[in-house]
Amino acid sequence: MKRSEINHYIKETMVFFTSQQFYLPQWAYFSPMQWKTTGKEYQEIFDNCLGWDITDFGKGNFLKEGLVLFTIRNGNFAKSMYSKAYCEKIMMVKLQQIIPMHFHLNKMEDIINRGGGDLVIELWKSDKNGELSNENFKVQLDGVSRTLAGGSMITLTPGESITLEPLVYHSFWAEKEPALIGIVSKVNDDKKENRFREPLVVNQKIDEDEIPIYLLCSDYPKIIQKQSQA
Ligand SMILES: [Fe+2]
Repeated sequence: MKRSEINHYIKETMVFFTSQQFYLPQWAYFSPMQWKTTGKEYQEIFDNCLGWDITDFGKGNFLKEGLVLFTIRNGNFAKSMYSKAYCEKIMMVKLQQIIPMHFHLNKMEDIINRGGGDLVIELWKSDKNGELSNENFKVQLDGVSRTLAGGSMITLTPGESITLEPLVYHSFWAEKEPALIGIVSKVNDDKKENRFREPLVVNQKIDEDEIPIYLLCSDYPKIIQKQSQA
C-alpha cells in the first residue's frame, strides 16, 4: 500500500472510533517524532506490536479486502517477561469491505459488534486438510451455545458477539453502515496463528510516497534501531 493511503485510512478510522465513542490510548496519536523521544517504559508497545495495523491482505484492493485495526493489548509467547494471556483489538470494517476467510490454529476469539452497522460472518469448520468442511460445529453467541452447519451466516447487531474455537473458518463484512468491531482473544501471534484459505502475500512493501503521520506497529523496528544508534 501507499503511505498516503495508510495515513488517510488511519485518520478516517480515528474519526470513526470517536464518532462511536470508542477512545484510544494517548500514544495512538503519537507522531513519528514523539515515538523517537519515548523511553524504555514504552518497550511493551514495541515488543508486542501494539497500536496501528493496516492490511490489504496482499491483494492490492484495500476497499474490497482490507482492514484497519488497533491492538490495545497483547501478550507475547516469545518473551516470558510478558505474562499477559489475552489480546484486545478494535477495528473499523468499512461497507463493501471483506475480511477474507481464515481460521486460527490455537487462538480462541470473541468477535464483538461494538457499534455502527451490522456484522455478517460466514462460518465453516475446517477439515484436517484445512479445507471447508460440511461438519456441524459449536459457537457461543453472547454465551449462548448454538450448533451451526458449514456455510452458516450469522449477523451480529451492535452489542452482540460470537465466540469462535480454533480451526473455525470465518470471513466477515459490514452491512448498513461501517461497523466498529472488537476482538478479545488469547494472545495473538499474527506470524504463526492465521491460516487464510487463499495464501496471502507476506512482507507487503509500503510505497513511501509521503511521510508517515502515524506509525504502524510494523514501523517500530526502524524507530528502535534509530534509538539504539543514537
Ligand atoms: Fe479471526
